[in-house]
Amino acid sequence: MRLMTSDYTELAASGRGYVTDLLRPDRTYDLLEGYGFAVTRSPSGAVSAKDAHREMAAVRADFGLGEPYAPLLYRDRGAPPVTEVTRKAGSDHPAFHTGAAQGWHTDGLLEDIGTIRTTLLYCVRPARGGGRTFLLNAGRVFEELRQRDPEAAGVLLRGTILGRRSTIPGVVREAVGPVFAALGDGHYATRYGEGQVERWYPKDAAEQRCLARALRYFRARRDDPDVRIDLLLQSGQCLIFRNDVLAHGREYFTDDPRCPRLLLRSLHTDAPGCAS
Ligand SMILES: [Fe+2]
Repeated sequence: MRLMTSDYTELAASGRGYVTDLLRPDRTYDLLEGYGFAVTRSPSGAVSAKDAHREMAAVRADFGLGEPYAPLLYRDRGAPPVTEVTRKAGSDHPAFHTGAAQGWHTDGLLEDIGTIRTTLLYCVRPARGGGRTFLLNAGRVFEELRQRDPEAAGVLLRGTILGRRSTIPGVVREAVGPVFAALGDGHYATRYGEGQVERWYPKDAAEQRCLARALRYFRARRDDPDVRIDLLLQSGQCLIFRNDVLAHGREYFTDDPRCPRLLLRSLHTDAPGCAS
């Protein structure tokens, strides 16, 4: 990956990320390699949910992604491997089935850091208003912090600093791990987030101060378009992103009740082009 030396400013100049033609692995690999994400486009434009499932299967095949991974949190709940992200009356899921904004996070609440390497988000229907997806080059922000304040950065590498706890009613589960882990190629896997699920476990007052500095640094940097891009997916567009190295979030949205926003999501333990 070249992610550490790239930035999103050029891509965001038009207010949008770069959209490739559907299934052009050469160009899309380049984008994934350089920026950690790419958006492909359906040849047909607007699509049905059935078309979307078929096109997601084609994206998986073209980019060497295996079958969708069922995350530990949902494994006992009969969730399908490709999940519908839409407003759903009566659902207890705190993030999938509401129009509320979703804070920074990585997918795979209970998984070890770096387990879910790729997320696919396919837009069947956008919202009436809002619903942008935000991506943050968290590894680059971490590298900056490491150079400026190694003590603060060091706390984020400690293996028991961050717990992530389920907010699904009645599901009491938490996984503890580091916020960043070196991948050995100069990049870092991440499970950075600041939302409803995080529990921080500094071991003493000194570490508490370091942690506060580290989180403050992320808050100050994460709106910079060099390291963050906001995407408003259109019908027939599929966002592919490296969930192990980018954090993401979602803007609040409003729906037309007759045709509510519908995204399909699948998670993968492979990275595009490098099956594990
Ligand atoms: Fe997510």
